[in-house]
Amino acid sequence: MALIVHLQWRNSLEYACRCQLSSQDFCFIYKIGIILYRIFRQLLSSGPDEAIIRIILLHHWIFVTTSVRPKRVLAICYTQTGQLARIATQILAPLQENPDVEVHLEVLRPLLVYPFPWPFFQFFDAFPEASHLIAPKLEPLALTGDEDFDLVILFYQVWFLAPSSPVTAFLQHPLAAKLLKDKPVVTVIACRNMWMMAHQKMKSMLANLGARLIDNVVLSDRGNVFTTFITTPRWFLTGKQTGFLGCPPAGIAPDEILRARRFGLAIQAALAADAEKREAPLLAGLKAVEANPKLYFSEQAGTRSFYLWGKLLRAAGEPGQWSRKPILFFYVIFLAILIVTVVPVSLALQTLIRPLLRKKLARMKHDFELPSGSGIERMTDYVI
Ligand SMILES: Cc1cc2nc3c(=O)[nH]c(=O)nc-3n(C[C@H](O)[C@H](O)[C@H](O)COP(=O)(O)O)c2cc1C
Repeated sequence: MALIVHLQWRNSLEYACRCQLSSQDFCFIYKIGIILYRIFRQLLSSGPDEAIIRIILLHHWIFVTTSVRPKRVLAICYTQTGQLARIATQILAPLQENPDVEVHLEVLRPLLVYPFPWPFFQFFDAFPEASHLIAPKLEPLALTGDEDFDLVILFYQVWFLAPSSPVTAFLQHPLAAKLLKDKPVVTVIACRNMWMMAHQKMKSMLANLGARLIDNVVLSDRGNVFTTFITTPRWFLTGKQTGFLGCPPAGIAPDEILRARRFGLAIQAALAADAEKREAPLLAGLKAVEANPKLYFSEQAGTRSFYLWGKLLRAAGEPGQWSRKPILFFYVIFLAILIVTVVPVSLALQTLIRPLLRKKLARMKHDFELPSGSGIERMTDYVI
């Protein structure tokens, strides 16, 4: 009898090791253990065998409850200039330093590398595919799709008011459906300052994959809408990120990147409390996102124009083909006019009719800041 119980115990131990059960599973197994114990006790009359069973079950329970598996986090990132990688480093550091958390960082690598700095025409030639969510091919991922993650952190940048093409490629990858289904996802956006339409597209791609978006963090460039229209294209087309004509340097301020660590610390605390299994955001009260709904109307106009002109360009040829260049040339002129007219006119009109729009803008701001919000009430918990 003792031998049978010993074998059963060994099988259970092997099973627990293989499955790396969570704390809820352990409670369940513990209850099963108690029931089994009672059954054995009834089956066997008292004597030395019962004592052996008691000891073995106690052993079993101690082993199982002390082998809580680490939380597994999948982080997805693509970066051109290294800016998004620096943000990912700050957020992931507290998780990577914690022995109770395992982080798998998957760096996306498009087969055809996007150049930096961008040649002028190649930069604009990227918009038809980006805005139509037509993704490039990626180098094989290090993932198999059979991994079971507790949380996914999706770092992405905005390209032409849509998620950047390499990130779209990941979301369209057959493995993404397996990896993200029913998983809680935190998105972290780093962009110039126009991200709302991209966020809409991201939300619908995640919903199609069956993922649960529980948080959204947005870090934007330090300059305002107008100065970044000069400094950001200068950065991408020449590689020069420095201040220019009195405008601040392009990109997200270095101290803001450092302060992004608070999100990693909060995620770490949330994982320890199993909070990712619930519906509530993990990063509320940490000033995760500040939406400027006044830009929405310009983003909407821009998205429409990218969509229509993108259709025309895609009908003219594949990315990089000469047949697209004449249309691109006209589009760049059209876009420049759009930027210097629609954005200021739309902002000026909104200022004039602000009292009429106040409620609508407040509602839009609230909705775009979901799920994490712009509250600051927990900022003092994570002073960096
Ligand atoms: C092709 C391209 C298009 C972009 N379009 C937008 C945009 O529509 N809105 C925005 O806020 N930022 C836009 N950006 C800025 C990026 O979102 C991001 O801030 C910048 O590329 C740095 O990211 P990195 O980490 O990949 O270097 C664009 C950048 C590129 C290269």
